[in-house]
Amino acid sequence: MLKGKHLIDPMDFSVEEFDKIFELADQIVSNPGAFSHVCEGKLLATLFYEPSTRTRFSFEAAMLRLGGKVLGFSEPNSSSAAKGESVADTIRTVACYSDIAVIRHPMEGAPKVASMYSSIPVINAGDGGHQHPTQTLTDLLTIKNLKKSFENHTIGLCGDLKFGRTTHSLVKALSRYKGNKFILISPEELRIPDYIKKEILEKHNIEFEEAERLEDVIDKLDILYMTRVQRERFANVEDYLRLKDSYILDSDKLKSAKKDMIILHPLPRVNEIAYEVDEDVRAHYFDQAKYGMFVRMALIVNLLGLNLSEAAFDKDEDTVKRTGTKIKAIKNEFRKCNNLKCITSIEENIPQSFYTSNGEKNTCRCSYCDHEYKIQAGGDFNGATNKECENNRLISGF
Ligand code: CP
Repeated sequence: MLKGKHLIDPMDFSVEEFDKIFELADQIVSNPGAFSHVCEGKLLATLFYEPSTRTRFSFEAAMLRLGGKVLGFSEPNSSSAAKGESVADTIRTVACYSDIAVIRHPMEGAPKVASMYSSIPVINAGDGGHQHPTQTLTDLLTIKNLKKSFENHTIGLCGDLKFGRTTHSLVKALSRYKGNKFILISPEELRIPDYIKKEILEKHNIEFEEAERLEDVIDKLDILYMTRVQRERFANVEDYLRLKDSYILDSDKLKSAKKDMIILHPLPRVNEIAYEVDEDVRAHYFDQAKYGMFVRMALIVNLLGLNLSEAAFDKDEDTVKRTGTKIKAIKNEFRKCNNLKCITSIEENIPQSFYTSNGEKNTCRCSYCDHEYKIQAGGDFNGATNKECENNRLISGF
């Protein structure tokens, strides 16, 4: 049952819940007109603290095509965020006016914080270099339609795997299907974060290798997922300039790829895929963008819990009970996340929360950003054990 749930991380939904969304998305693709009134009377709020073309437009188009309405901001300086309002207070306010909210934010964990204080479903539309679960829904719907299965693929993720949030969410999601192998292609400095390797791939014995040259591995791939080097996440421009042209996929490189390999990219592209590749039958990144709207339509319908057969007659139903905030957040007195890109580093009233790392002694991770926290040598900070830290996890919900 997806009604009233938040989508902050791909693992928030089970494989069966994903299937339910894809099934509805396929129905919408086949007959969009049949769904043009199901969200009448509903409002979607889009809170974009960072630029977006696909995610914001596809969410807005999705709600409008379902018969609902949209409000929000695409520039935080036009909201009271510019006056210093916290994410928690913003969502509590927006929840008074709308039925479902989508949030993109440069700080890792910000949508999670919003979900803790929200009485309406919150969808993470990308939090810094952390996660982007609705891009993953888009990617999976594309793979389902082109490859007919989520299993037994060799998937090459290429480019900026350090800051590329879409790759983090995609690895999480595809690691739940059997027989998938990952080839992680990046420069040394842009490797996928440790928490993806340790908490997802190694923990679940999923086969993966790291490579630096696309040419060395392209012939093995069933799916090639290209990403741009994420300029906005670099601490200095020199590093970006040095790394930005690490990979450029062109027709020449594609000569050794499988004939049925598919090329995906979450977009926007900068120069990592030459325009000539757009003509290749294996290029599907603009199909991917189109699937994004349909899968977001299915997501909205599911989170609002709309009964499709009765939706048109269902205008009085309060699909998400406005019971106000029911957050039980326990302050973690022992630790503070030291990731400067974590939302907890700029909003002080957020309770610290950690989880125990996969089999690693003296290590835990921030529940908002997955950043590693090393427990102090000679015992723990303030004497807390990892178990106490684990017990201090925050609990949130409606
Ligand atoms: N794929 C994606 O998130 O694109 P936008 O940044 O344009 O939303």
